[in-house]
Amino acid sequence: MSSVNLVVMVVGLLVLAQQSFQMSLRNPVAETNNCKIDFTRLGLVLTSDTNEKALQDSGLFTPDAETPYVDIAGEKVNAAIAVQILLNRFRIQGIIHFGSAGSLDKESIVPGDVSVPLAVAFTGAWNWKKFGSDKGTLNFGEFNYPVNGENLLASVDYDKVKLFSKGHSPQDVFWFPSTTSWYSAATQVLQDLELRQCYDRACLSSKPKIVFGTNGSSSDSYIKNKAYGDFLHKVFNVSTADQESAAVAWTSLSNEKPFIVIRGASNVAGEANPGFSPASYLASYNAFLAAAKFIESIPTPRLACE
Ligand SMILES: *[C@@H]1O[C@H](CO)[C@@H](O)[C@H](O)[C@H]1NC(C)=O
Ligand SMILES: *[C@@H]1O[C@H](CO)[C@@H](O)[C@H](O)[C@H]1NC(C)=O
Repeated sequence: MSSVNLVVMVVGLLVLAQQSFQMSLRNPVAETNNCKIDFTRLGLVLTSDTNEKALQDSGLFTPDAETPYVDIAGEKVNAAIAVQILLNRFRIQGIIHFGSAGSLDKESIVPGDVSVPLAVAFTGAWNWKKFGSDKGTLNFGEFNYPVNGENLLASVDYDKVKLFSKGHSPQDVFWFPSTTSWYSAATQVLQDLELRQCYDRACLSSKPKIVFGTNGSSSDSYIKNKAYGDFLHKVFNVSTADQESAAVAWTSLSNEKPFIVIRGASNVAGEANPGFSPASYLASYNAFLAAAKFIESIPTPRLACE
């Protein structure tokens, strides 16, 4: 009997998976033959069609026969709202978030690799300074081409954001660290995971690997610009950029729920994508494999029989 009851949230789409017998969506304790099975309810949060295709292709999770999906809100719900809905409606105990990312450091992460960051920085809150005032962290003049100099865009400082949670005073945060116990469990269970190197007769040039111990960055911006990618890498020592992981982390922390971020590198920021690249699918697929392996490792239910 399956131990994990998974609710999958794609932004705009929700799939219930792997329910091997009927149970109430609101009540995670099911009864069969006088035995009570306490489910572990986890939320798997993903954010793109490619992520969803990876999940469906895997065959590892099957939609619930009775309730394959639940439409809750329209298509434009963002990652943070999606996580909040999961937590409120489905009594989720923890959030596993996977997706793709751009590598900002091709020495350590190349397309097809999977990064499990220690923490993600939210790099989208800017304090945009006046021209002629003290310089912030990002000085546009330093990027003038062909020679650097002054620039009316002046400079930007990176702000912290407020993290509100029940019973605590608001905290100013820049980094969102993954839940320590989940992160360290992941470093063990994912160590020997075989990632996929080929898709549709196209193969990555090297064997993909799982990378631990790096940090990631996340903001609303999709980063194709190499100079900015290099800046983020240099200043914050972050190795990936994505658009949702900070929102997922932020919401999980606000609700004091454990979470982990797993991101597959689909490209290197600033480098041309060579037409259709199998790397973009393999990034999602490999990140999904890591998420599935992690879910499988989460402790099994307690069975109590009368
Ligand atoms: C990652 O960020 C944390 C802040 O949460 C910092 O303490 C740690 O040194 C960073 N790790 C790396 C590898 O840069
Ligand atoms: C930067 O991060 C790498 C891992 O991505 C780590 O090995 C290194 O020690 C970090 N450097 C600093 C200055 O924190």
